[in-house]
Amino acid sequence: MQRLEGRVAIVTGAGTGIGQAIADRLGSEGAKVVVDYVGKPDGAEETLRPIEQSGGEGEMVSADITRDDDVRRLVDAAWNRFGAADILVNNAGMEIESGFCDVTEADYDRVMSVNLRGAFFLTQAFVRRLRDTKKPGRIVNISSVHEDMAFPNFSTYCCSKGGLRMLMRDLAVELGPLGITVNNVAPGAIQTPINKALLADKPKLNALLAKIPLGRLGTPEDVAGLVAFLASEDAAYITGATFVVDGGLMRDYHEQ
Ligand code: BGC
Repeated sequence: MQRLEGRVAIVTGAGTGIGQAIADRLGSEGAKVVVDYVGKPDGAEETLRPIEQSGGEGEMVSADITRDDDVRRLVDAAWNRFGAADILVNNAGMEIESGFCDVTEADYDRVMSVNLRGAFFLTQAFVRRLRDTKKPGRIVNISSVHEDMAFPNFSTYCCSKGGLRMLMRDLAVELGPLGITVNNVAPGAIQTPINKALLADKPKLNALLAKIPLGRLGTPEDVAGLVAFLASEDAAYITGATFVVDGGLMRDYHEQ
């Protein structure tokens, strides 16, 4: 019996990057997966294919978590297709680089509405269903090392991830009595499309690599394994915590 057999997971932003690897991993451990995406369906199709090929089940849902109707539709899709859902992975995220003095209201609203508001109200819609059906559940937010660590020129991103950190802590306490666990996974520098500009800039990339004790960027799969663990029975007694996956980046200090 696989670790996540009989479970249903909703993964946001699952057509690319870390979300795609998470959906893939949860599916390969037996979960049925609701693959949320925005924009072109190609990435989500790519996510779903191996799940279905290995005898699993999944459902692609085009839903923009910044839109309230889409949020409700995403949760409904899980219940309509699979009759329930137990695991929510709030993965969808974005960043806009900008010096603090140049941040526009539109940039601020965009980053906060994807990274924080979207996760907030999707979690609310998910938890309402669990509460009404008296079912336990697992919530895993993909935050960032920047839920804790400064990132100059990314103030909006840091605000959103810091907010996600407190949302997780607060909900762990409020939802514990319902049997719902809430945890954050905080990736460091992972090789995904969010890092496109950095990956193309060799001097910047090398400077970053010099700060990572394990000497490499992370892969989406490095993150996905931890999410599968947190979604499984092995993590039944874990709630209210952040787990860092960063190759040691947050702990580094050296003078040369
Ligand atoms: C950000 C990346 C950054 C990494 C490490 C991530 O959360 O999305 O842009 O390189 O943290 O600083």
